[in-house]
Amino acid sequence: MTSLDSAYTSKLLICKDKSVMALSLHELVIKSCKEALSSDRGIFSIALSGGSLPSFLSNLSDSFDRVGCSPQWDKWHVLLADERCVPNSDPDSNLKALKESILDSVAIPKNQIYGLDESLLLPSSSSSSSLLSCEERMASAYEKTALRPVLEKSGNKIDCVILGFGPDGHTCSLFPNHALLEEKDKLVASLNDSPKPPLCRITLTFPVLNHRSRMIVFCGAGESKGPILNRIFATVHHTPPKQITTNDNDNVKECSAILSDPAPFPCGMARPNEKQDSNLVYVVDTSAAATLNISKL
Ligand code: 6PG
Repeated sequence: MTSLDSAYTSKLLICKDKSVMALSLHELVIKSCKEALSSDRGIFSIALSGGSLPSFLSNLSDSFDRVGCSPQWDKWHVLLADERCVPNSDPDSNLKALKESILDSVAIPKNQIYGLDESLLLPSSSSSSSLLSCEERMASAYEKTALRPVLEKSGNKIDCVILGFGPDGHTCSLFPNHALLEEKDKLVASLNDSPKPPLCRITLTFPVLNHRSRMIVFCGAGESKGPILNRIFATVHHTPPKQITTNDNDNVKECSAILSDPAPFPCGMARPNEKQDSNLVYVVDTSAAATLNISKL
């Protein structure tokens, strides 16, 4: 795995339960959205994963209301951090899960929510692209017609990327020891051998996560995430709360974590290259963090 030449620090928010995790995540999204919309870019670009993540977003609109901030949904551009190569209505589709939890209930223009081109799921025609597999064509089309145009409008970086991490340490559809961890050129890649079903998927790559993202937030709940957190963090210090307003100490414990080098798992390799405060945040619950060794600064 990649080794970086200097220590990389992530913020770590240990939340009392999943509802507090959702509120902490919402604060981060609101902050990122405000920053994006007050910049001269004028849009908010966000990339979202599947798994348990969509469930944390379902009350996002209420959180905007609570702080008196207009989300300006018409300026949102929503990308998929990874997607399974299935129809958008399939129970396995990440887009379907995101639509059901949030996207169907907010006023983001449909053409600014970027799902898979379902026509590419059909057997290929006799064009030159027929040499490519269905998932390769989907990845290439997603890069060309979804990701690159959004990057162009968004100052070449996605404002906010929200990811999960699996009990094997994968993130997006970037799995441990998979050749895609070394991908340097493609911004969206495909795989047909995913260890987590279904086999065929497309995924953002590390050139996007690390070089074209302003902020990455990981969300993970439950004790199955504990062994991954124990390995991806070399040291964890409890730090006094600064900006996160849900941080009364009973609900959210704010920590600073230095990432292990080399990263033992794909999720630990995700490190936005603008090393400003809060560009990488892990939002977890107390079960996930139960076995972390946390010292006081
Ligand atoms: C997918 C997801 C995947 C997910 C992790 C974590 O398509 O499978 O995008 O990358 O985020 O597997 O999933 P959980 O949050 O459900 O543990």
